[in-house]
This record gives sequence, C-alpha cells and structure tokens, in this order.
Amino acid sequence: MVDFAGAKNSVETVLPAASDRVDPAAVPKRRLSTGALIPAIGLGTFGSDHAPAQQVADAVKGAAAVGYRHFDCASVYGNEAAIGGALAEVMAGGVKRQELWVTSKLWNDKHAEEDVIASCRQSLADLRLDYLDLYLVHWPFPNFHPPGCDVTSRSANARPYIHSEYMKTWRKMEEIVDLGLARHIGASNMTIPKLQLLLRDARIKPAANEMELHPHFQQPELFNFVVGNGIAPIGYCPIGSPGRPQRDRTPEDTAPTEDAVIVEIAKAHEIHPAVVCVKWAVQRGQTPIPFSVNPRHYLANLRGVTADPLTDKEMRQITAIDRNCRLIKGQVFLWKEGQSWQDLWDVQGEITPA
Ligand SMILES: NC(=O)c1ccc[n+]([C@@H]2O[C@H](COP(=O)([O-])OP(=O)(O)OC[C@H]3O[C@@H](n4cnc5c(N)ncnc54)[C@H](OP(=O)(O)O)[C@@H]3O)[C@@H](O)[C@H]2O)c1
Repeated sequence: MVDFAGAKNSVETVLPAASDRVDPAAVPKRRLSTGALIPAIGLGTFGSDHAPAQQVADAVKGAAAVGYRHFDCASVYGNEAAIGGALAEVMAGGVKRQELWVTSKLWNDKHAEEDVIASCRQSLADLRLDYLDLYLVHWPFPNFHPPGCDVTSRSANARPYIHSEYMKTWRKMEEIVDLGLARHIGASNMTIPKLQLLLRDARIKPAANEMELHPHFQQPELFNFVVGNGIAPIGYCPIGSPGRPQRDRTPEDTAPTEDAVIVEIAKAHEIHPAVVCVKWAVQRGQTPIPFSVNPRHYLANLRGVTADPLTDKEMRQITAIDRNCRLIKGQVFLWKEGQSWQDLWDVQGEITPA
C-alpha cells in the first residue's frame, strides 16, 4: 500500500490505490434526531503524548483519502490548527464541506458564559471551517487541569457538577446553533441523572453524548437511556485505548483486544482484535471514533465496518464479556478530599452531592 499519509503535497498526489479505498457512500450512517446523517465511524484525533499535531493532521488527510468523512476533534488536543490545514487540503482536493462531519469540543476551563462562543470561534478558525457539524461540552466539570498532568493532580478551583451553571454554558451552546456556528450541540462524559436534567431544561436538546464504550465497558444503562431519548451515542476509546500513557492506567484496567473472546473472533475473521471492537461498536448502534495514525490500521477499521459483519452469536459473545471496566476515570476532576473517582459518575443513580 502507498504510504499516502506521509506525503506532504496535495490530496491528488497522495490518493491511495482504488483497492485501498472505501467508498464513503458504503460507510454506515446514523440518523440524528434532527434528521441529519452522521457517518457511523469517525477518526479520533487525540494524539496525547505519542502523536504530534502534524502526524495526526497527516492521518486526517490520509483517512479522508481512504474514505473517512467524520473527524472527532477538540481544542484541548492541541492540534486543531494542523488539522485545519489537512481539512483545507482535503476540500481543495474535491471533497465538499457538506460531505464532511467535523466535531469539536469546549474545554473545561471555558465554561464561563463569556468564553463559550469565543472558544467555538477559535476552533472554527483553527480548523478553517465556517461551521462545525457537532460541538460538545467536553466534560460536565468546569475544572482546569494542564494537559499531560498525572491522575493524582488536583485543581485548587475544582468544582462539582452544578446544574444551574452547566445550563448557563448550555444556553451559550444553544446560541452557537442560533448563530450557525454549529449544526448540532451535544454533551460528553455525562451520566443518566445529569442528562435527565439537561433534557428537562434544554431548548435545543443534545444531539449526541460522547462516552467511553468498548467491549469491556459497554455501559448498557446509559447506552439504552441515550438511544431511548434520541441522543446518538458516540463511543470513545473503542479499542480500549491501548496507546494511552502510563499515567492514565490503573492496575485493575483490562484490555478488550486481549480478551480471549475477541481474539478468537478476530482469528475467525482474519482481522486484528482492534477491528473486532470497531465492528462490534457499529453493529451495536454506537458511533466509534478509533484513533490511529497508521494507514493500515485506520483503513482496516473503516473497511471493517463495511464488510464481513459479526454474526449474531459473536455479538452475543461480546455482550457477555462486559467487565464494567472504565479506563478514563477522570480523577483530575475530583473536587474534595476523600472522594473516589466513582463519585464523578453518579454510580448511586443520582448526582453526587457537592
Ligand atoms: N470525549 C472525551 O472525553 C474523549 C476521551 C477520550 C478519547 N476521546 C476521543 O476518542 C478517540 C479514540 O480514543 P483513544 O485514542 O483513547 O483510544 P482507541 O481509539 O481505543 O485506541 C487507539 C489506539 O489503538 C491503536 N489502533 C487503532 N486501530 C488499530 C488497528 N486496526 N489495529 C491495531 N491497533 C489499532 C492505535 O494505534 P496506531 O496509531 O498505531 O494505529 C492507538 O494506539 C480519541 O482520539 C478522541 O478523539 C474523547
């Protein structure tokens, strides 16, 4: 296969061979509550410690060349300006803006009313776009922590979820839709009790909730809640984030790609266990956003959702290996001494009191 992602010129010079492309029309789509269609797989763009901005931008360009049309971005990933350059090249190469789905996210230190629209405009400027397809509130907690900090790091200004404050942020998110800066708005890292309040009070309902979803963390209750309320579940860490830094790991974490059931299904389909996770996600009904800067990997993930589906039996086998193993625990958002990360996720069924 041509190493098209490494090329630096224009999209035309880096197009892969036809056999290395997936027709974007063949990629499954999901219909959102607004009627809009979102490609049921996107490329994650959080390079974290291991993939610098330009490498991720090259992957965006390469992924567009093999048929991806959906890109999951965020200001905090620190690479939107580089990705903007890649998207400009993709569009100069003939892909129309309306064929793309670009998501961005409001970071936690920008929840204040005066910051929300300005942050969205900054992401638009960096991404070189006139509008976003989806703009998400990245986390429900308005706490700043520096990129790359350890999970033991705590902000002196850490605050719990306060619904009236979240709604002030959400009103600005609604204004972003009114202004035409984003076609849809949504949430991320929410729980059922928090979403219930948001659904009660929102003028513009969240179109999507981005949440951790992989075979070892299937979140069936939250998944059913969002689907039942017309909110599209977008699944992050769909492969179990095997490349995440050591500081984000705990001894109890498990790896779905090493699960015997996944490995066995991968052998039967002659694919990598990562691709089994991606196939399962799309067939289950969520929209996975696997990260990759490896052309073979992101092509395999895209191809995986357009051919050779998992059987009903394999889908049932994967349902049975859920371990309720949350990998992204959010410890940095804890707001007072003596708490455990479970407090962030309202595991008692109600919002953890301040
Ligand atoms: N909303 C939120 O709070 C939130 C939180 C976390 C993540 N996210 C989003 O979700 C995206 C995905 O999460 P993630 O990046 O943590 O984890 P992930 O997608 O579960 O895993 C990515 C890792 O899997 C490898 N991989 C991908 N496809 C593969 C394949 N076919 N075969 C073998 N290995 C493969 C990649 O390596 P190579 O690069 O070598 O292929 C990379 O190390 C992020 O990039 C970000 O956009 C959102």
